[in-house]
Amino acid sequence: MDQIAEELIGKIIHEKYELIKELGRGSFGIVFVGINIDTNQIVAVKCESTKSKKRHLVNENTVYELLQGKEGFPVIYFYGKWEDFEILIMEYLGPSIKKLFYQCNNKFDVATVANLAIQCLYRLEDIHNAGFLHQDIKPENLTIGDMDSDRKHIIYLIDFGTSTAFKDIETGVHMEPGEASRIVGTCRYAALRMHYGYICSRRDDLESLGYSLIYWLQGSLPWQSVRESDPRKKWKIVRSIKRQYIIDSDYLKKLPEAVQDFFKYVQSLGFYTKPNYRILRGIFRRLYKQTKEYENRKTKPYCWVKFLDSMKRPRIPSKYR
Ligand SMILES: Nc1ncnc2c1ncn2[C@@H]1O[C@H](COP(=O)(O)OP(=O)(O)O)[C@@H](O)[C@H]1O
Ligand SMILES: [Mg+2]
Repeated sequence: MDQIAEELIGKIIHEKYELIKELGRGSFGIVFVGINIDTNQIVAVKCESTKSKKRHLVNENTVYELLQGKEGFPVIYFYGKWEDFEILIMEYLGPSIKKLFYQCNNKFDVATVANLAIQCLYRLEDIHNAGFLHQDIKPENLTIGDMDSDRKHIIYLIDFGTSTAFKDIETGVHMEPGEASRIVGTCRYAALRMHYGYICSRRDDLESLGYSLIYWLQGSLPWQSVRESDPRKKWKIVRSIKRQYIIDSDYLKKLPEAVQDFFKYVQSLGFYTKPNYRILRGIFRRLYKQTKEYENRKTKPYCWVKFLDSMKRPRIPSKYR
């Protein structure tokens, strides 16, 4: 795909969107920065080869369509075929939370984590209410809004490549528990049930959010340094460490009480249960209110705000300026 990406730079999709540079790359496609040459608006373009065996983008577009108009999900401008690719053109967002975490020296303060949790819980409530699970909640799949807009303090949830419906769209009936046909997501943040190969439900997206919260507070997760090239073995090793830390040990007791309460609540949820997102947001609102950032209202709720001016938004090529 390396060479393909380079060859695509400068190409114009359907006489409207020029590809400017590569933005990111995942397991099944490439994301580019593009420009709408009619309006000079910067956009993000996700491409997937029509030759690839597993097709994710069509599924991703379905979920994005369901979430259009909701806060914290990018606007979709186009989905369709172009040459040998499926193309999804969407609103250009700001840097990912992973990138902002590195900017902040791999640690977020409690106020930042509490506000991230509140925003993520709104996003999860919306996708779950649309009948889908995300199944890959992690810092790379969360971003802030476009830095040149008033949406820069909104947290966006992206990447629905591994999303799946947990209800029958027509009847609204919840799927039955059982063994999953395949393991999806990211080993570091996956819920334990995914590690065991079971079908996941709403509570498991929350569990992955929980691991992200711990990661942001602690700067690392106890299982992140497992080096194992065989993915099956790695998922198994990480599973036992995760289990030990999250279920059997005192590890959670060292974290803010809000995080312990969050895990306790998530662990109490049944397979079919609709989580009470409002109660969970309440836990983190109370946590935020206890921080010095809340008392000193001049401080913004996110610790990365001071770095935003130094982070560059892609430049519009001079021919379009
Ligand atoms: N709309 C967007 N605006 C800005 N950056 C984006 C956008 N969509 C994706 N990205 C960046 O590209 C990366 C990969 O995109 P993602 O949708 O997560 O694809 P993958 O399935 O390859 O992980 C993201 O982590 C993010 O940094
Ligand atoms: Mg991703």
